[in-house]
Amino acid sequence: MIKPKFLFLLQIILFISITEMFSQTPPFLDPNLSPQDRLNDLLPRMTLDEKIGQMTQPDHAAIQNLNDVTTLFIGSILSGGSSDPSSGNSPLDWANLYDSFQTKAMQTRLQIPIIYGVDGVHGHSNVIGATIFPHNIGIGATRNPSLAKEIAKITAKEIAATGIDWTFAPCVAVPRNERWGRTYEGYGETPELAQMFGGVFVAGLQNDSLNSPTSIAGCAKHYMGDGGTTNGIDQGNTEVTEAELRAIHLPGYLEAIENNVLTVMSSYSSWNGQKMHGNHYLLTEVLKNELGFAGFVISDWAGIDQLPGDYHSDVVESINAGVDMIMVPNEYQTFITELKSAITNNEISMERIDDAVSRILLVKFQLGLFENPYSDRALLAEVGKIEHRNVARQAVRESLVLLKKNDNVLPLPKSGSKILVIGEHANNIGLQCGGWTVQWQGASGKVTEGTTILEGLQKVAASNEYVFSQNVNFTQTDADYAIVVIGEQPYAEMFGDRDNLELESAQINMIRKLKNMGIPIVTILISGRPMLINSVLHNSDVFVAAWLPGTEGDGIAEVLFGDFQPKGILPVSWAKSMSQIPINYGDTNYEPLFPYNFGINSLANSEVGSNPVLQSAIVTEDGIHVELSFNKSMVNSQNTNATFQLIKNGTTQVGVSSFVVSEANENVLVLALSERMSKGDVVTISYQSGNLKSADGGIVDFFSNFEIINFLNYIAGINILPGKVEAEHFSDMFGT
Ligand code: GLC
Repeated sequence: MIKPKFLFLLQIILFISITEMFSQTPPFLDPNLSPQDRLNDLLPRMTLDEKIGQMTQPDHAAIQNLNDVTTLFIGSILSGGSSDPSSGNSPLDWANLYDSFQTKAMQTRLQIPIIYGVDGVHGHSNVIGATIFPHNIGIGATRNPSLAKEIAKITAKEIAATGIDWTFAPCVAVPRNERWGRTYEGYGETPELAQMFGGVFVAGLQNDSLNSPTSIAGCAKHYMGDGGTTNGIDQGNTEVTEAELRAIHLPGYLEAIENNVLTVMSSYSSWNGQKMHGNHYLLTEVLKNELGFAGFVISDWAGIDQLPGDYHSDVVESINAGVDMIMVPNEYQTFITELKSAITNNEISMERIDDAVSRILLVKFQLGLFENPYSDRALLAEVGKIEHRNVARQAVRESLVLLKKNDNVLPLPKSGSKILVIGEHANNIGLQCGGWTVQWQGASGKVTEGTTILEGLQKVAASNEYVFSQNVNFTQTDADYAIVVIGEQPYAEMFGDRDNLELESAQINMIRKLKNMGIPIVTILISGRPMLINSVLHNSDVFVAAWLPGTEGDGIAEVLFGDFQPKGILPVSWAKSMSQIPINYGDTNYEPLFPYNFGINSLANSEVGSNPVLQSAIVTEDGIHVELSFNKSMVNSQNTNATFQLIKNGTTQVGVSSFVVSEANENVLVLALSERMSKGDVVTISYQSGNLKSADGGIVDFFSNFEIINFLNYIAGINILPGKVEAEHFSDMFGT
């Protein structure tokens, strides 16, 4: 007979152990276990539908019914380039959006959190008020990996502040042809730059401890060879040997993997005719098996749809090739149906499914998403804070590449001057940020908070007078300097593919008109890549490549006014003409306008008495003069003599009847020709004997075969006398 006392004790023990059994935290929810141990417990618990859900990534805008996240076990959601919250575009709107989906995920049986991705490619660039950094081509020009790591950390903070766990960055493309609309998304034309920045950017995003509240998952993209397509066609065909592919396009991934990048995005492009989304050799045998990539592969936006065959075969081919998660992004129910039938029909093995799902869950465990699934509202103040903008302004300063500098212009005076500031790019946040800013394609105008180039000038040197004009139609008659800001309109991806990188004629027009004012011209180019600048370089006393600087436009003023020296050097070769492109560092017969690594890294004047540098030469619009532009004032006295040899189209010798220092610009020698040049003529000049000097006594070195820019190529058949051109006449000349 069991004593009542003992029976009672037994009942207590029984009750505790049953309660314990049912309330015991399953191992996969125990953060003290390793991600692998947690996975080993979770995977066997999952149904096929739950596994399929983990591999499914819709865009948030495609989810009409929030409950789909629960009922379909959706494992990931993204916001594409323009897919901002419908409620508004503040950091709070984003945090609310994120939490609304996460709440639904946490209502699933196993409470597996979603991982949410966004294109934070130059800051949290979808969100109004976020710090927007220079696009990668400008970061490449800094050659400053520690700065890039700092930028990545800040980007991660501002993204995490809105709840989001993952950015589709860094783009480690190696753009080899500037016709490509995504040139600015790469760090530059060499694998050296992808290596210099790809790994450190991942380290900055994912931080030292992955489950830190301000760490997010990185994504090395687009694997592989996206920047090497023939003619730079976006999503085109990269026709290279495997050795070339590995030498040029793989190094950035090696660094990213070395830094434990958690995801890789497959490329729309093809390698020798095979779409990357279906390339088992590169996605599985190389990336996962040979290189040991342990994260997961995400497809690009509807990238699998480009595979040959119907959608069902696209699903089968891409997942069997090694894609683990599909950025569907719209018809996610269809995707789920097709994937389920492919598994049921043994077209995709459970082993492959379990491998994909395991990779995805391991990332979620490493990020600590099970422990902290929701946004941390205390972080919202991180978005756009001044300390971040200060770093962005440093990046702007260090990204600037000074391509031309005449003496006695820089640094600009901080007071007492009247400065013309001309061009729509001078006062337009949207234009200086470029694509992937609030909207996928970016947009002109005040798209977010920040400092325009003009505002930066006014901020850094408030004691000057600034006269701003969007274009050349102004009646201003006197000024001390002109700052002209020209460049591209925003674009992203295929919308930026160009056959011709000439500047708009209205922009050439601005500088031509200003030249006749006889004041120093500082030209700033806002672009995602080198443009053909022959038509404006000659008439600019200073020329700065500013790329796409982002929200902190005052970084440009800080260099122009001398608070900081220019540091940037070219991450790409700067072509003279379209016929030179593709032109890349290491090519044979490499004769760009400016070579890779070029950059003038001082504002100081040339040394007194130093040899004058011939910076550019041009056949003027009357066709009978050539101008030689040096970096300092030239002298032309009675006893100056010089023998020039001009060769037209490689064979014809053209005589020079006289030469004189230009009245409009003392840095310029004007040579009168014995015959008129024509549009299309290729003219070179050599200086083989004489005593040409600069005003400070510098001797001009002899030179040979210096290429002369033929300005007639930029004028629609109208010859006009120099110095006689008025604004209205320009409209005839350029048809503006
Ligand atoms: C785009 C881009 C890719 C981006 C993705 C999500 O088409 O190719 O870089 O991450 O879709 O927006």
